[in-house]
Amino acid sequence: MLNYTTDELKAILNQAEAEYASYVKQELKLDMSRGKPSSAQLDLSNDLFDIKYDKTKSKVDYRNYGILEGIPEIRGLFADLLGVTADEIIALDGTSLAIMYGSVQRAMQFGVYGGSKPWGEQGKIKFLCPVPGYDRHFAITEKFGIEMINVPMTMYGPDMDMVEKLVSTDASIKGIWCVPKYSNPDGITYSPQTVKRFASLRPAADDFRIFWDNAYFAHEVYGYNDELVNILQECKKAGNEDMVYMFASTSKITFPGAGVSCVVMSKNNVAFNKKIMGIEMIGPNKLNQWRHYEYFKTADNVYKHMAKHAEILKPKFDAVTNTLDELKAQGFISYNKPRGGYFVSVFTPKGTAKEVIRLCNEAGVVFTPAGSTYPYKNDPDDSNIRLAPSLPPVDELEKAIAVFAVAVKIAAVKQALGM
Ligand SMILES: Cc1ncc(COP(=O)(O)O)c(C=O)c1O
Repeated sequence: MLNYTTDELKAILNQAEAEYASYVKQELKLDMSRGKPSSAQLDLSNDLFDIKYDKTKSKVDYRNYGILEGIPEIRGLFADLLGVTADEIIALDGTSLAIMYGSVQRAMQFGVYGGSKPWGEQGKIKFLCPVPGYDRHFAITEKFGIEMINVPMTMYGPDMDMVEKLVSTDASIKGIWCVPKYSNPDGITYSPQTVKRFASLRPAADDFRIFWDNAYFAHEVYGYNDELVNILQECKKAGNEDMVYMFASTSKITFPGAGVSCVVMSKNNVAFNKKIMGIEMIGPNKLNQWRHYEYFKTADNVYKHMAKHAEILKPKFDAVTNTLDELKAQGFISYNKPRGGYFVSVFTPKGTAKEVIRLCNEAGVVFTPAGSTYPYKNDPDDSNIRLAPSLPPVDELEKAIAVFAVAVKIAAVKQALGM
């Protein structure tokens, strides 16, 4: 990447070190480590809690026990948003991550619809993990002792040649984690061809599942909504409708943890999972589901609400990507400029990501630790860093990314000079 003479590199280093020293003196305390909405974004949904439940408006009294699969109104709203039917949805409480965890746990203990045995009784089993990816996905599979295999991401989604080859030949591969739209962390939306290839997989295992985490289905930042082909519909066309579990939530639409989440799956999968879930609980928080339904009522209103989030997020993404564009043009990094989602993923020269993070931390700027975007926190190239621009105000972001840029230059040039 670096195309400079030795003298030029030395000059860049001198200047970067002087700048770095000036940042250290400022005793900064800045944090760009986690993808949380800012309080201005949370304020957008404040009126939600003013909505009072009116029992005359629903056939069943939602204040009481029951309706394991969630109220029809919210399932209908998710169905419109996700391009499926309400009976393909189970709507639960505030976190889709808990549904993902539960789905892995149920498969481990009880198997999946159509499978011959629980995953947990089959010896060593494996998951494919597109990298870089979401640390909490990897934490779930690691917790259950499922071996994780890295699959490189491309601009079109995971390397599908590798996915097809592994899934069709190795029956111990039981699943794959996917964030198909504005992926965490690269911000890549899977191409139509990628989605169709996923839907047409012919797994060696009879109990393979795609974990399709559609966390950012409505989370555009630049007024342009990437199109994602509907995987459940494609799976149906390919005779594979039981192969996918899709997850979504309102965490980054209304309030993380106090919203509504859902899983989308074939009717067979819904029936199979509901039987087990019915032992675990009687029903979700229907009053909150009702409130969310009443607040939005239509998919269009959700998109209008998301446009307000985008207005707040855009200057923050710009603050970060303006500096990254310069760094990229100078040959210090490669990165994809995301059109939505919550993250920006940067590749520094191989072998420098940990050093970049160390330098930033010492200057009082916290980023997600290097390696976090890979299974076992092990980035074999020590190159990927995830930046989360949503939470800090723009002036803090500008400073944090300036420190980041200087740290990248120091680490990259020192490496190039063999220092
Ligand atoms: C890809 C992805 N999935 C899931 C989550 C968490 O979702 P929830 O709040 O619905 O548990 C996040 C949060 O950052 C995420 O990035």
